[in-house]
Amino acid sequence: MSYETLLLDRRDRVATITVNRPDALNALNRTVLEDLAAVAAELAVDDSLDVVILTGAGRAFVAGADIKAMIDYSADEAAAFSALGHRAFDAIAALPTPVIGAINGFALGGGLELALACDLLYGSTHARMGLPEVSLSVIPGWGGTQRLGRVVGWHKARELVLTGKHIKSDEALACGLLLDVFEPDALIEQVNAIADAISKNGPLAVRAAKRAMAAGSSFGLRDAMEAESRAFGGLFGTADQREGMTAFVERRPATFTRS
Ligand code: CAA
Repeated sequence: MSYETLLLDRRDRVATITVNRPDALNALNRTVLEDLAAVAAELAVDDSLDVVILTGAGRAFVAGADIKAMIDYSADEAAAFSALGHRAFDAIAALPTPVIGAINGFALGGGLELALACDLLYGSTHARMGLPEVSLSVIPGWGGTQRLGRVVGWHKARELVLTGKHIKSDEALACGLLLDVFEPDALIEQVNAIADAISKNGPLAVRAAKRAMAAGSSFGLRDAMEAESRAFGGLFGTADQREGMTAFVERRPATFTRS
């Protein structure tokens, strides 16, 4: 499918979604949110996919919710806009494959919240990240008050939410928001290399590992451990599990068949 505000590229088992409103620094209006939910629905049923990369066109990843679109919203309209963003970001977060955010520039407000729906975040030296909503006298409305603390810890999250400051790539790396930082021209190539490293693993196992870790962030520890045991057990008896372990014992690379 094609999308008004997104580009979708495919290379082998890796799909790349690019938010494409560069003149507005990729700010998120209803159309972009609806397109994100639709592309997630399309990719969610593609069993041949191993990794999704999410990035932005031009000098921004995403500079937040579209302030010009929101300015006259009533309380009800704003609550509906928040719910639409939750649906879109939850659909990205719930993709069965890992999602890598490639933070090429500004990832502010709703842009950082979209990034936080990804499983792994890498950035370029141009990355500028933050939750500046309080400077507009609103709060992060698309998961930022919840997901940021789960990634960087609640103390750092409180600093970013309450000051609204923008941080550069070195500070984002130091606090664990970014896993690594690359030169701008190298970002997409490096992120594709990480996607390829994930893709070499047993695809059923990668998907099960993602499900088990997602369960851990929404369940209590005991329920999450049980979910992990079920996911672990569910991989035994698959051809790929036997092949992965046999290949190790026979000291040869594994050939996975997704079965
Ligand atoms: N919404 C709408 N338009 C935006 C935008 C946004 N969030 N961010 C940038 N733009 C537009 C600008 O209005 C400008 O458009 P025009 O050329 O038509 O005037 C264009 O993108 C380029 O932006 P700037 O000229 O401002 O570029 P800059 O380099 O001087 O500054 C910036 C870049 C620091 C990112 C600045 O644009 C900025 O601060 N943007 C807003 C960031 C922000 O506050 N985001 C949070 C939004 S609220 C939110 O996200 C709520 C939520 O959780 C649901």
